[in-house]
Amino acid sequence: MRILVLHGPNLNLLGEREPDVYGAMSLALLNAHLRAHAKKLGALTRIFQDNCEGTLIDILHAHRRWAQGVIFNPGAYAHYSYALRDAVAAIGIPTIEVHLSDVKKRETFRRRSVIEPACLASISGKGIDSYLKAIDRLAGLGLRKAHRQTRSRTPRSRRRAATRL
Ligand code: DQA
Repeated sequence: MRILVLHGPNLNLLGEREPDVYGAMSLALLNAHLRAHAKKLGALTRIFQDNCEGTLIDILHAHRRWAQGVIFNPGAYAHYSYALRDAVAAIGIPTIEVHLSDVKKRETFRRRSVIEPACLASISGKGIDSYLKAIDRLAGLGLRKAHRQTRSRTPRSRRRAATRL
C-alpha cells in the first residue's frame, strides 16, 4: 500500500505552535513516527507539508497514480476550501481527513469540514494517533483488497499470481 500523507498550513510549526492545543512534537518527529508505523505495516509513504492551497492541490494531482491511500490534514482549509474538497473528489483515492485537535469541540467555525464529505473517514482529537489510526485503516483496506483478490481467484490463477510475486 502506497500512502500519501499531506499536512496543510501552519503544521510546519508543530511543536512551537499553540503546544497546549497541538502538542509539543515537531513535524519532523511526527513524520518519523508515521514512517516507522507505516513501515511496520508494509506500507510506503510520501509525506509533504505546504501552506498554500494551490500547492496542496498540485501535490494531490501529482500523486493520483502513485497513491493508493491519502491521509490529509488540511488545517484551517478544512473549514472552507471547496477547491481542496474537489481535488480529493477528483483523484478518487480513499482519503482520510485527520486533525490533531478535536475540531468538533472547538470554535464554531472549526466544527464543519467541507472536505470531510469527499473523504472515506475523518479522525480528529487524538493527536498523533489520529494519523496512526488513519494509517491502520488504509493499510487494512489494502490487506482486505489483497485478500479479496486472492479468494476470488481460481486455484490455477492463484498459482500464477503466486509465481508472479
Ligand atoms: C487542525 C485543526 C484546524 O482547525 C486548524 O486550523 C489547524 C490544525 C488540527 O490538526 O487539529 O491548523 O487541522
